Amino acid sequence: MNQEKVIQGFSKISREEKIRIAAEYASQPVEFARELFTHWHPEQKLQKRYAEFSENAVSNFYLPYSLAPNFRINGKDYIIPMVTEESSVVAAASAAAKFWWQHGGFKTQTGKLLKPGHIHFIWKGNATALSLFINQIKPGLMEATSEVEKAMRNRGGGIVSIQLKNPDSCIQGYYQLEVVFNTMNAMGANFINTCLETMTDYMIKSAQNMGVSDQLEIIMAIMSNYTPQCLVECTVECPVSAFDSTQSNHDGKDFGRRFSLAVSMAQHDISRAVTHNKGIFNGVDAVLIATGNDFRAVEAAGHAWASRNGAYRSLSEIELQDDRFLFRVTMPMPLGVVGGITNLHPMAKASLQLLGNPEAADLMSIASVAGLANHFSAIKALITHGIQHGHMKMHLLNILNQLAASMEEKELALQYFINRTVSFADVREFLSVQRS
Ligand code: MEV
Repeated sequence: MNQEKVIQGFSKISREEKIRIAAEYASQPVEFARELFTHWHPEQKLQKRYAEFSENAVSNFYLPYSLAPNFRINGKDYIIPMVTEESSVVAAASAAAKFWWQHGGFKTQTGKLLKPGHIHFIWKGNATALSLFINQIKPGLMEATSEVEKAMRNRGGGIVSIQLKNPDSCIQGYYQLEVVFNTMNAMGANFINTCLETMTDYMIKSAQNMGVSDQLEIIMAIMSNYTPQCLVECTVECPVSAFDSTQSNHDGKDFGRRFSLAVSMAQHDISRAVTHNKGIFNGVDAVLIATGNDFRAVEAAGHAWASRNGAYRSLSEIELQDDRFLFRVTMPMPLGVVGGITNLHPMAKASLQLLGNPEAADLMSIASVAGLANHFSAIKALITHGIQHGHMKMHLLNILNQLAASMEEKELALQYFINRTVSFADVREFLSVQRS
């Protein structure tokens, strides 16, 4: 559809009116509107809460909320909440958790939880004058943010350092004022950005007072999602003989050798590395969504970290020595357990309760463990029987639902496809025979 003029005031009109306008764009307007109304939560208070998370909200988008049991992390047992649309992810995480529960569980370590932000600016004068200017205003920059920073400082966090940086770039006069923050249990994006904007104002005023405002052009102030000082490391370890009984075609030693080769491939080749790392994010993102975290921030940080040496590589590594199999994922995990929607979204709150109301460092561990668990299962499947067999079995239910199969038809199909390869065409054919 082509509209005659730009839509004005869309945010101000009622939900019903928004849906009516949008329905004109839909191929099946009545069905479109019906779906949107159906998924509006009947409990008004709850729906108001959901709708307030975003703008122009006219309905909700449901995803399954799943539980993956048997995770032993640093000696403590967890049932992990996972929200994902991808079949097999929760089954894969649970299977790995069960295996590693019997082999000492997952061990994790987190370092400092520091996050940087930058004021990006152009300096038209000479470098010495800039250093002088920054050194002179540093105490004032701290002072200017003291009100904004007070609550965070009381919790043990706040501004850790302020440093002038000259990024290696071809942009003439490009500098950054890098401010490093400890945001404690919060992801901290709002806090960081507020501090940076307050500092920007102070910087502009100081430049005016010191007669150098014509030298300074501030371009922007924003936190960086590149967080190499917010790392979590997660490890599993066992004798390779532990894999003897799990593999039909390979003994444990051979399994370890093939697994190690699979990881090496992702350490040397970008095409493999991207998919390899995607298998880690299958688990990580599912936990981040279930706990109301910004999974895009963690994805962005993770992929950038995977490229830190100039080429995109595996986030995992393996050590295979004297019968020991050690598998590790190291990645940045800038998340929070307070702020954002973590405590506003009823399901995110429930997830945090299930996890024992963790500190940010604990949740970093839990999310990385889910990542490693999914990753382990994926590689295991890939180097043995492949992923399609198990995956398509899980996918069978999705196909059956798409084809509106009844409970009875689903049961028959599950039986029929127990030893057959699942494809959309075969399932449709199976149902048409049943229905004829
Ligand atoms: C699919 O969602 C994830 C995998 O492709 C990961 C991998 O290849 O390692 C199976």
